[in-house]
Amino acid sequence: MHTNLLLSVQNLSVAFDTRHGRVAVLDKVNLNLHKGETLAIVGESGSGKSVTAYAALGILDPAGKITNGKVEFEGRNLLELSSQEMRKLRGRDFAMIFQNPRTALNPIRKVGRQIEDVLQAHNPGMGAKARKEAAIEQLASVKITDPTRRYNAYPYELSGGMCQRVMIAIALACKPRLLIADEPTTGLDVTTQVVIMDLVHELAQAHGMATLLITHDLGLAADYCSRIAVMHAGQVLEDAPVATLFKGARHPYTARLMAATLQPGITLEKLVSIPGQLPDLRQPQPSCRFSTRCERCLPQCKEPGLALMPYSNNTSHLIACRNPL
Ligand SMILES: Nc1ncnc2c1ncn2[C@@H]1O[C@H](COP(=O)(O)OP(=O)(O)OP(=O)(O)O)[C@@H](O)[C@H]1O
Ligand SMILES: [Mg+2]
Repeated sequence: MHTNLLLSVQNLSVAFDTRHGRVAVLDKVNLNLHKGETLAIVGESGSGKSVTAYAALGILDPAGKITNGKVEFEGRNLLELSSQEMRKLRGRDFAMIFQNPRTALNPIRKVGRQIEDVLQAHNPGMGAKARKEAAIEQLASVKITDPTRRYNAYPYELSGGMCQRVMIAIALACKPRLLIADEPTTGLDVTTQVVIMDLVHELAQAHGMATLLITHDLGLAADYCSRIAVMHAGQVLEDAPVATLFKGARHPYTARLMAATLQPGITLEKLVSIPGQLPDLRQPQPSCRFSTRCERCLPQCKEPGLALMPYSNNTSHLIACRNPL
């Protein structure tokens, strides 16, 4: 095993029990993230990006069941830890930031206090004065001006961009080694998006922190990440360094995504040019869930045993396709 491996998701399958029966959402998802690396998960809405992150970090909705696989963080299988052990790791070793910071923050608690809450949970020995100073320092580190005054602000007194900065300050308060950012800039205006992404990138570099960026936006992924994993209907179809992918995507789905979205202002959210819909996951699926939408589909594409494998012996370029480009 690679010694620098930080997070390794192996054959992770997740199903949801719904009123309409069991829905097999994730199908043997594999992802590897090394120390200090930046990986993007890209895919259409409903492709399973958030479920992958939530399942890996133990915050999956109770209706979701992990039916297969392993999630190793620095060699420990997170799926075997108790919820108490997981709580210890969350915030300290890995942290998450979400879309809609305003709803993720506690509306009736001063933002400075909310940073202190994380510090207190993970450093119970820290004194009140040191904690307050550290919280103010955190606010300054995410470039909030006048942090001493802003410490006393409530979320409603801050703009969306400021709230996202506070979320980042909370997430990074204990210097985690992994940050998962799930659509961190959706809902913010374009200028603020760039400012927030630059900030995340800068802080990640400064702390040698690995980042998993979940996004609809292939352009954003390319700008801020070294590698991109492409998901479709709960399967990872291609995973490669950004330059490799842009030079020659091998999965027909990736190629179509790139052709369709790499125009300014077009993200997967607005994508209309990929024919067909994500399959209905309540029904049994063919081995490749993209096969029903794929113009290169061969009879064997429906057969079981699809796996993510190196493309032409290149171990950094993985692809799950029986008829690659
Ligand atoms: N609590 C739940 N109950 C039932 N199904 C769920 C639940 N949460 C997610 N799903 C299903 O899992 C699939 C993947 O959802 P997920 O939220 O991971 O998609 P996503 O790729 O993050 O999409 P988006 O880009 O819109 O955030 C979807 O088909 C969704 O309907
Ligand atoms: Mg999501």
